[in-house]
Amino acid sequence: MTWIDLGNPTPRPSPLPYIPFEWPTGTTTQLSPPGVLELPNLVEVFNSRRSKRSFGLVDEKQLSNLLWLCCRIQGNIRADLGFPLSLRPCPSAGSIHPIHVVISLPEKPGWMRYDPLEHALVTLPDSYATSATARLNADSIVPSEAGVVLMFAAEPGKTFSKYADANSLVWRDAGVLLGYFSLAAHALRLSFCPLGVTGEPWAGQLDKQGRLVGVGLAIVGSCS
Ligand SMILES: Cc1cc2nc3c(=O)[nH]c(=O)nc-3n(C[C@H](O)[C@H](O)[C@H](O)COP(=O)(O)O)c2cc1C
Repeated sequence: MTWIDLGNPTPRPSPLPYIPFEWPTGTTTQLSPPGVLELPNLVEVFNSRRSKRSFGLVDEKQLSNLLWLCCRIQGNIRADLGFPLSLRPCPSAGSIHPIHVVISLPEKPGWMRYDPLEHALVTLPDSYATSATARLNADSIVPSEAGVVLMFAAEPGKTFSKYADANSLVWRDAGVLLGYFSLAAHALRLSFCPLGVTGEPWAGQLDKQGRLVGVGLAIVGSCS
């Protein structure tokens, strides 16, 4: 076995200038905040969570609740990195939150990205081919059926602007987010299964300048 040493992250004495990726404009679907959610208690959720591999259709409200619980922006923090830091339900190294959540709905070809500030879904132009092949790849591991495919597209340049040797921070952020999704999906009575594939090359293809990289794929659906 070859263990690839990702280095030991250290904060830079001064930030490395970074111009963040700007998502193309698309058609926006505004989602609604959940209001009061009736959920099982946390101990019950921790004690009973299991990965599930059968995926029925998720309605917009269920998807909205999941995204809201895991990754909406609760507040921005001023920063000198060239982009805002944010507070969200899950922790992130340096409060940078470099991972974008991109989704493929079963009945709609193409990717949509989750806008965590607006709590909205925005279509990504010209993404039909990449979403279709990503879904096919997911299906070859765990059939996605009527489920939603979630792709984590990291923007490592953000984390690298603050830390040297930041690779492992991005991967650890991906793990934290995956854990949040798995628990929140279970609490919302949804099926959820992480996949071992990274989301490459599809995540990388979303930006021609190479600022995005896949750090995870997962499927979520309603329980049958
Ligand atoms: C990083 C990661 C990758 C995974 N990849 C797959 C996968 O490719 N296919 C699959 O069926 N399950 C996958 N799983 C789910 C595990 O198989 C599952 O968590 C494990 O069997 C324990 O079961 P539990 O989640 O129900 O507790 C993955 C889980 C993690 C955390």
